[in-house]
Amino acid sequence: MNVESRQGVKRPTSNIEFCVNRGLTMAEVANVVRVTNVTKVFKLGKIDVPALKGVNLEIAKGDYISIMGPSGSGKSTLFNMIGGLDKPTSGKVFIDEVDIAQLDAYELAWLRCRKIGYIFQTFNIIQVMTALENVTLPMIFAGMHDDAAVEKGLQLLELVGLGDRFNHKPFELSGGQQQRVAVARALANDPAIILADEPTGNLDLTTGEEIIALLKRLSQERGVTVISATHDFKMLNVSDQVVWIRDGRVDKIEDREELSISIGQIGTRV
Ligand SMILES: Nc1ncnc2c1ncn2[C@@H]1O[C@H](COP(=O)(O)OP(=O)(O)OP(=O)(O)O)[C@@H](O)[C@H]1O
Ligand SMILES: [Mg+2]
Repeated sequence: MNVESRQGVKRPTSNIEFCVNRGLTMAEVANVVRVTNVTKVFKLGKIDVPALKGVNLEIAKGDYISIMGPSGSGKSTLFNMIGGLDKPTSGKVFIDEVDIAQLDAYELAWLRCRKIGYIFQTFNIIQVMTALENVTLPMIFAGMHDDAAVEKGLQLLELVGLGDRFNHKPFELSGGQQQRVAVARALANDPAIILADEPTGNLDLTTGEEIIALLKRLSQERGVTVISATHDFKMLNVSDQVVWIRDGRVDKIEDREELSISIGQIGTRV
C-alpha cells in the first residue's frame, strides 16, 4: 500500500485529474507555466541578496524556452521557483493554472515526481546504480510495478540512444552518455515539463549539440514543454522563445523570428 492510500486521501493520478480537482479543464490551461511578480531575496547574515526582482513570464504548452543571461542574473533561482524546489519571497508561480504555493506536501511531491522532469548541469545521477536503475527509480517512487518499470526504463534508454548501455554504471559512461541517462530519467513519469539547468554546461561542443537535439526532438515528438536555463548559444537555434534575464529581471523576450536575427550576430556562449 502506498503512502497516499494509507492516508486515505485522494491524490491526483494524472495531469487531467490534477486540473479537474481544481475545476479546470485542460483546454482552459493554455499556459503550462505562469510566473507573476516573483521576487526572491536570499538572506546572507544581515545582508539581503535580491536574486529576482519581479519576474513575469508565461510559457505555452509544448514550447522550447531558453532562459539566458549572465552569471548571477537569477536563472537558477527562477528555475528553482518554477520547479517547486524553492519558494518565492513574493509573487506566484502557477503550473497548469494551479498556484503551487497552495499545494500541500503530498501534492507538491506529486508535482515534482510526475509533472516535472529535472536535468542538471552535473547530471546528478546516482553513482552506485546502473543506467537502468537510475531511470527506473522515479517510476518505483511513483508506485509502478518493477517489471513495468524495467520495460519502460529500457524503452527510454533506447530512446536516448543508450539501449546497449543499460547495465553500465555512471563511471563507465561518458559525460554525454550520463546526461542522456539523466534525460531518460527526467522522462520516467511522462512529465508535462522538462526543466533543465545548464544541461550542456559540462559537455563539449558536439556532445552538447547532441543533447540539445535530443531535448528538441522530445519536445516535438512528445509535446513536452522544455525550459532550459543556459549560457549556451547553441540553444538559440532550437528555442521557440528566449527569455533574457539581467540582474533579476526579464530584460526581453524574443520569439523565433527575432531570434534568427540575433543568431547571426553572436558567438557560441554568453
Ligand atoms: N542560496 C543562496 N544564498 C545567497 N545568495 C544566493 C543563493 N543562491 C543564489 N544567490 C545569489 O542570487 C543571485 C542569482 O543567482 P543564480 O544562481 O540564480 O544565478 P545564475 O543566473 O543561475 O548564474 P550562473 O549562470 O552562474 O549559474 C546571485 O547574486 C547569487 O549570488
Ligand atoms: Mg545557474
